[in-house]
Amino acid sequence: MKNVGVIGGGTMGAGIAEVVARAGSTVRVVERDEAIDAAQQRIEKSLARAVKSGRLSDDDAKAALARITITSDLSTLADSELVVEAMPEIEELKVEYFTKLDEIVSPDAILATNTSSIPVIRLANATKHPERVLGMHFFNPVPVMALVEVVTTLKVDRAVVDKVATYARETLGKKTIESKDQAGFIVNALLIPYLTSAIRMFETGFASAEDIDEGMVSGCGHPMGPLRLCDTVGLDICLAVAESLFDEFGDPHYAPPVLLRRMVDAGYLGRKTGRGFYEY
Ligand code: NAI
Repeated sequence: MKNVGVIGGGTMGAGIAEVVARAGSTVRVVERDEAIDAAQQRIEKSLARAVKSGRLSDDDAKAALARITITSDLSTLADSELVVEAMPEIEELKVEYFTKLDEIVSPDAILATNTSSIPVIRLANATKHPERVLGMHFFNPVPVMALVEVVTTLKVDRAVVDKVATYARETLGKKTIESKDQAGFIVNALLIPYLTSAIRMFETGFASAEDIDEGMVSGCGHPMGPLRLCDTVGLDICLAVAESLFDEFGDPHYAPPVLLRRMVDAGYLGRKTGRGFYEY
């Protein structure tokens, strides 16, 4: 993959662009004009962190940065062999962009979405070539987390799935697992009910946020407690995934807690807004 496109330069898109550029590809990130500077800074800060921690040399960081261009012009993705979409979790927005992308890129380019909760087939069906559309679900922070879930649909070509999984493993250095196009895929279908159980425990006054988190860190050896993890993932993302699980399976066990909804309404989305279950 010499030319890779990324749509959205937020938390995930910036991380994906960084990882792809560090692996040697030329990356074009499509972002809204008013958010281009923020996306650039996100990438620069993350590369600087990698250099500071000794995970990356200064020269490699500079070379990776030089391979990334951020623009608001979608047509710059025309020669991409792979495009990874990481826009906000809004189905109409993603559908609109998949339809546009399908017209712009060559018919054998692969179109991937990083969605956490929208059925991938709905984005595939917005294109004339659904056989080249699949999910490439990265984890936050992308440069640090080892996993990519490769999400298949009922229409995707096996060769496309294999090509993307091989690229993620051999070029990006990630581990891959393959999931069907079901709400939550593998990881979130297991993780989100755990996180919402912790929110309910806190909501009912059963225990403090600190004690719930300490319980799982010191009692189970988890690197982070569930409420701090909600803050890290983003409460809006947790809510979107919980809603998609509830819609898909209809099991009350998946229903998002009222407190989660109200915190999202209040704009307490976790680390990214400076306040969630904790203050940052
Ligand atoms: P974010 O809100 O940090 O980033 C979204 C970016 O898209 C923003 O920079 C925004 O300016 C940009 N954008 C909005 N409209 C645009 C447009 N018309 N054209 C180009 N760019 C546009 O969101 P985040 O957290 O990066 O999530 C992105 C996707 O990744 C979502 O689908 C989410 O479900 C998924 N995801 C998120 C994870 C997380 O931990 N945050 C983990 C795995 C997947």
